[in-house]
Amino acid sequence: LHRIAGAGGVRVLLRKRPRPSERVTAQCFEVEEGGCSPPAPVCAAGQLGSSASDTIFCRTLHLSVDPYLRCRFNEDTGVDYTRPYSIGAPISSAGIGHVILCGARAKERGLAPGDLVLQPFDSWPWAAACAIPAASVSRVPPLLGWLIPPSALLGAAGQPGLTAIIGVEQVARPRAGETAVVSGAAGAVGHVACQLFKRAGCRVVGLCGSDVKVAWLQQNGFVDAALNYKSASLPVRLAAERADIY
Ligand SMILES: NC(=O)c1ccc[n+]([C@@H]2O[C@H](COP(=O)([O-])OP(=O)(O)OC[C@H]3O[C@@H](n4cnc5c(N)ncnc54)[C@H](OP(=O)(O)O)[C@@H]3O)[C@@H](O)[C@H]2O)c1
Repeated sequence: LHRIAGAGGVRVLLRKRPRPSERVTAQCFEVEEGGCSPPAPVCAAGQLGSSASDTIFCRTLHLSVDPYLRCRFNEDTGVDYTRPYSIGAPISSAGIGHVILCGARAKERGLAPGDLVLQPFDSWPWAAACAIPAASVSRVPPLLGWLIPPSALLGAAGQPGLTAIIGVEQVARPRAGETAVVSGAAGAVGHVACQLFKRAGCRVVGLCGSDVKVAWLQQNGFVDAALNYKSASLPVRLAAERADIY
């Protein structure tokens, strides 16, 4: 967003909805120059005015693109945990960025310019800079932001990692010596799940959709074996693995 942004920044809006069974293409989006200004008035001290008292104005650092966002392009998402995107409004997702300006009540919540903040789920607008309700973000402790790359807070150290932990430790409950087969193994959730199964002492077989991903999983030691699910030999090779957990 910053690379293609002019002085006023850019926002990415929903131009049209794909049909529910269609792919999302570039035609669904509109890139708008500008629209990234702080809510007026901005006081001399760099504080947002009283009309935006519980708001922060942030520079976007990273945005997350997750599979569940697809349902937000439909008028009816079909799920109860997220809302549909609106035509002409910014696309949004989980995001992370730096606070530039703060309203008075946002300051009372402990936020200040320079803070790294995280919106972990679905409401950080796809904009180079944006105003966000202070209550919707968490401040990232400076030491944490220093120890790990901020983007990891949207990945392995964020919701995808948590999803993998719950799937492996609370649902699958692996025992050492079992064989775990992980689908989407090269994805954000899958590659963490593979590592958690390995740590539990399992033999891990990852399924993925390309030979490049097979090599990536194997070279990083995330799996004991990786299989391309598009290969004709998959049924035979998978049957030979005798999976305990899928
Ligand atoms: N991210 C989260 O925080 C979160 C939270 C709750 C639930 N989930 C769910 O967890 C799953 C994985 O999410 P993710 O965030 O890890 O997504 P991701 O990084 O996009 O990975 C998903 C993987 O699924 C694979 N895939 C796509 N089509 C496939 C098909 N037809 N058959 C088999 N594999 C296919 C793709 O890999 P290949 O190229 O190898 O096919 C892709 O890398 C999704 O169902 C998501 O809704 C995610």
